[in-house]
Amino acid sequence: MTETAYHQIRSGPPPIPAGCPVDHGFSPLAAEYVADPYPIASAIRETAPVVYAESLGFVMVSQMDLVTEVFMNPDVYSSANVQDPVFPITADAAAVLAAPDFDPVAVMSNRQEPDHGRIRNYTKLLFSNRRIQTLEPYIRRRANELVDTMLAAGPPADFVASLAYPLPGEVVFRFIGFPERDDQQLKDWCANRLAFSWGQPTPTEQVDITTNMLAYWRYVREFAAGKRAEPGDDLASELIGYHLANPDDLSYREVESILYGLSFAGHEPVTLLIGNALVSLLPRRDAWQALVADPTLVPKALEEVIRWNSPQIGWRRVTTCDTTLGGVDLPAGTPIFLNLAAANRDPHAFDDPDGFDISRPDAVKNISFGKGNHYCLGAKFARFEARIVLEVVLDRLPTLALADDRATVPFPNISFRGPSRLPVTWG
Ligand code: HEM
Repeated sequence: MTETAYHQIRSGPPPIPAGCPVDHGFSPLAAEYVADPYPIASAIRETAPVVYAESLGFVMVSQMDLVTEVFMNPDVYSSANVQDPVFPITADAAAVLAAPDFDPVAVMSNRQEPDHGRIRNYTKLLFSNRRIQTLEPYIRRRANELVDTMLAAGPPADFVASLAYPLPGEVVFRFIGFPERDDQQLKDWCANRLAFSWGQPTPTEQVDITTNMLAYWRYVREFAAGKRAEPGDDLASELIGYHLANPDDLSYREVESILYGLSFAGHEPVTLLIGNALVSLLPRRDAWQALVADPTLVPKALEEVIRWNSPQIGWRRVTTCDTTLGGVDLPAGTPIFLNLAAANRDPHAFDDPDGFDISRPDAVKNISFGKGNHYCLGAKFARFEARIVLEVVLDRLPTLALADDRATVPFPNISFRGPSRLPVTWG
């Protein structure tokens, strides 16, 4: 086993690969791109599908076949950098993470083979249909309660604050086994983690975020110790059970690190998916009405949302050896930015790729959950949860409408996208 730290703090980018075209203007953090990445991403895909993005220090890849080639060749394109800050962090923030007991290890998205496969063999058991389905009554009840509260306060409401933000955290915390009384504390600790690994936080924000990460890791370790002493019917207890039965194959530190990573992966993108579903569907009244009339159409509609307005529009890799991609030579150590937004709108992958069609037959071919050995372990979970939420909303709020479509701008970062506020009205 070769263990590496969960978050690696890197220095500046390596030199531009010789012969690689350079884009001096593109930035995934620019206001125009954050507001609507698709026209910019598509234009770059058509002119320079493999291009060095100067603002990031990454080589950006945007055609579906090239993105797929990267995902499917983990020996050449390592995922070691996917949880690291995009830009170097300050010495003060690094000092917080240098605490001797801050020692989560790379376990899933950022762990390499063969260890990744060894660990994934255990974690995939945690996402059984049985365990996921036990959540349905809880998701329905909480979605209804949150809608009740929103209705009682009357329109307009911020749908993100009312439902899309609180619910997915609560659901994944119940799944893992965190007690309800810690929900708010956990949400606070996870807040801005997105900015740490995928955004460009200010020096002060970096210290706040790393302080939260340290507190959260300490909490996870204490929580795991409690579950070890007193197991329950939850993911954490099941995972600890795998360690106890196979202590030489799955280490206790790996168990703690899986819990650390899952709580973030398990709710932030679902919040964004629910928000993106409403941003995409509410202005299209025909599509919305079709779903109100026949909620069995929801899974297909959600798949189109995941393609057309993905909660995850970029991901990363780094080359492990000299290689060539799309005719461009890349030396070992080249950071790669996979532009999933561009790939999901690639005309070679989808007919009329910019059109939003809730009955698109092949929307499921989207690349939003990745592909290959690291394919999102929570894809089934995310689809299941979002489906139930949408069913509840269609049933309870058939007249729901956007109150102000200018107030939906997402938080600037290189990977995740969805409204940070969503003013809605009804009745
Ligand atoms: C719509 C919501 C979601 C999206 C778009 C999404 C997307 C992704 C992507 C792009 C990856 C990386 C794939 C790669 O590197 O090849 C990933 C990995 C992962 N996701 Fe998700 N995810 C979502 C929800 C979830 C949820 C709800 C959970 C857990 C409850 C989860 C757990 C994971 C895990 C554990 C991995 C790492 C898998 C591995 O490395 O073997 N995700 N996800």
